[in-house]
Amino acid sequence: MSQVHIIDHPMIQHKLTIMRDKETGSKDFRQLLEEISLLMGYEITRDIPLEDVEIETPICKMSAKKVSGRKLAIVPILRAGMGMVEGLHTLVPVAKVGHIGLYRNEQTHEPVVYYCKLPEDIQSRMVIVTDPMLATGGSACDALSMLKARGCTNIRLMCLVAAPEGINRVQVNHPDVPIFVAAVDDHLNEDAYIVPGLGDAGDRIFGTK
Ligand code: PRP
Ligand code: URA
Repeated sequence: MSQVHIIDHPMIQHKLTIMRDKETGSKDFRQLLEEISLLMGYEITRDIPLEDVEIETPICKMSAKKVSGRKLAIVPILRAGMGMVEGLHTLVPVAKVGHIGLYRNEQTHEPVVYYCKLPEDIQSRMVIVTDPMLATGGSACDALSMLKARGCTNIRLMCLVAAPEGINRVQVNHPDVPIFVAAVDDHLNEDAYIVPGLGDAGDRIFGTK
């Protein structure tokens, strides 16, 4: 079963509380999401592979560790997942970025695919899938299936807020994919929104409502 890592550092909880507040506008919402993503990325990449490189300090030559640039890909689920890319990119600037476009059908709440563009060598990379909201889990599960169909075997899912229903669906369908979240909320409402949640993440990031 997928491991669930709740990254609830006090600074993350503090920033998330401001994001949840309905009075917080798009500019601050985006900024806070980027900051939290960087902080979460620190934990998510804890075991990222390193390689030895030869360098020379002002004192002497040495063999030192570097993250291999070819090892990571960030794949946001559009649109809202885009809000988590910049923070991760600050941490690993050489990571490649793929995009998976999905939206939820408002009636069925099931995801509809409209875009997929991934780095050519994605199957040889550790992939971090980003999406702030894990609600029913339908979007995340479809994105993970698309990546597996492309040969990816080392995938992590990074979300900000999750509902127990979404976590359960990912665990059942993708037991090999660890889930990293800042908070697990109470339940989904009749519109499949997370309660208490933070509303529609895409609309709050891009100011579309
Ligand atoms: C939101 C969110 C997730 C999805 C979560 O996207 O960003 O992708 O819903 O719901 P689920 O777990 O029930 O699938 P939305 O479909 O609203 O699209 P958007 O990001 O373009 O606004
Ligand atoms: N998508 C969102 O943006 N928010 C939710 O609470 C559920 C799905």
